[in-house]
Amino acid sequence: MSDSATVLDGLIKIREEIDGTLALRCSCRSAICGSCAMRVNGQAMLACNTKIIDVISKEDGKVVVEPAGNLEVIKDLVVDFQPFWDKVRQVDPYMQPTGPVPTAEYLAPNKDMVHLAGVMNCIMCGICVSDCTVLEVDSNFIGPAALAKAWRFTEDPRDGKRDERLKALNDEDGGIWDCTRCLKCVEVCPKGVAPMDRIMELREAAIEA
Ligand code: FES
Repeated sequence: MSDSATVLDGLIKIREEIDGTLALRCSCRSAICGSCAMRVNGQAMLACNTKIIDVISKEDGKVVVEPAGNLEVIKDLVVDFQPFWDKVRQVDPYMQPTGPVPTAEYLAPNKDMVHLAGVMNCIMCGICVSDCTVLEVDSNFIGPAALAKAWRFTEDPRDGKRDERLKALNDEDGGIWDCTRCLKCVEVCPKGVAPMDRIMELREAAIEA
């Protein structure tokens, strides 16, 4: 394969030419859809965004590919995302404005929204969840992806449920206080969302509230 070949290219080649039963997820092949998250050499990453040449062992020419962690394996590299989505739903990932509903587009000033851009880059790939060291020992933890999503709504000036959201995340078993600040989610996130930093901001906001 060429130097630009990705881990996903390699897996697709294997499926097409060697083992047609190999199960994996992919769609965009451009680091946009988030469906090809898996562990490569022990760390979660997007297979379509990882060149084989960058991860292949110089000693034995091997690349170790495993399913994403902290989610149950359905088959080969396909994991069950249901618990992931359940946790995202748990934080009410939608705007809850109070007061009259606007009849036209609900605009917010750019200065109030620009700091949310980083988190809105999240593609829900589950990489942070895969390598979260708390989820490894406590499946009850809401987890980095859902908490980063929760932060996005507590910071949105159009949302009217900030205090209720913070209270729930503060009180909840598995909420913002379960993060151990290991930084793993920051390290592995392919989109620079830095979920742990968002969790720390949620803690500060909850204390202030
Ligand atoms: Fe869409 Fe990799 S296939 S992110």
